[in-house]
Amino acid sequence: MIHFSEAVRVEMGQRLLDHYARHGRALPWRATRDPYAIWLSEILLQQTGVKSVVPYYERFLDRFPTIQALAEAPQEAVLACWQGLGYYRRAVHLHAAAQRMMQEHQGQLPRDIEQLVKLPGIGPSTAGAILAIAFNQHHAILDGNVKRILSRLMALELLPDSTPGRKILWEMAALLTPRDAAGHYAQAIMDLGATICRPRNPDCMGCPWSFWCRARAMGRPEAYPVTVARAAKPHRYQFNALVMREDGSLLLMPRPDRGLLGGMWQPPGDDPSLTVTPPDGETVRLWLAERHGLMVDPPVALPSVDHVFTHFRLTVYPFCCVWRAGELSGETIHRWIHPDHDRSTPISTLHRKVLARLTPRINPAA
Ligand code: ADE
Repeated sequence: MIHFSEAVRVEMGQRLLDHYARHGRALPWRATRDPYAIWLSEILLQQTGVKSVVPYYERFLDRFPTIQALAEAPQEAVLACWQGLGYYRRAVHLHAAAQRMMQEHQGQLPRDIEQLVKLPGIGPSTAGAILAIAFNQHHAILDGNVKRILSRLMALELLPDSTPGRKILWEMAALLTPRDAAGHYAQAIMDLGATICRPRNPDCMGCPWSFWCRARAMGRPEAYPVTVARAAKPHRYQFNALVMREDGSLLLMPRPDRGLLGGMWQPPGDDPSLTVTPPDGETVRLWLAERHGLMVDPPVALPSVDHVFTHFRLTVYPFCCVWRAGELSGETIHRWIHPDHDRSTPISTLHRKVLARLTPRINPAA
């Protein structure tokens, strides 16, 4: 592994902290010492960029100002506050972790990293970031930004997520974290990744570490971190039956708690399959009758909706189905709602797009 002497490491830390003091972004979670708010911000930022996170962060804290308020809320209210942000399991885990803090940690965020990583949704890097930022404990972090920065710094020829790659990156991350300023350093290195050492088109001229960066010396910063060409994502297809009553309300059902979009609500539909061709309306009509006992007018196909998830692409074929007769059995959890007016039923961005295919039919002027 590339070696930086202690004196160089001290200087690198100082340069980065100076750069952060001058150019660091003023972000709402940087103005608080509340460990709960800092934890929330780190979970929100796990898969989402700063710009999208800010309004959610503020709304979430307004709605659930304390660990106790979050723990006592129904899961559905938590998901409703998260709708549109994606990766909903983060919200389910956050909620479950708040309940564990109430039961096992006197309603506090545990300050011990061994305890913290046992809670749902908090891996070693997130735990390190929370404890460094909230309590200035000496922990390293290794999120996507830091992996990229350190891979370039060392011109690391290993995949950052391989076992040896990860080991070297964690070692370097720990070595570079200053003893007495881990919190500011965590914020500073994440800013460096977001604003200077960007995935594409890094601003090496503005970088406080360019003097030490091997990838920069080679003139190929973008060649790191090394990647295996990503396999193409599989493409799946499904139909959604948008069953509408005369008053314009639509039938929605919750998805199972476990799995993709767990706990979010959507119109009835089949499981995603590899069949490319859209079903015809008659197939959808028969499916609704057999599966749910609902009689509808001949379903009308609406324009399809494409969506990209982490592991596959999905095309949804929505059908407008005007309800005529039949009731769902009492065991089938469901609601008839007006999605434009009901913001308390959590609906993913994908399914909001699917439902929006109906808008011209409900309101031709829209
Ligand atoms: N990404 C992850 N954590 C962050 C933070 N605290 N500030 C900015 N970006 C981040």
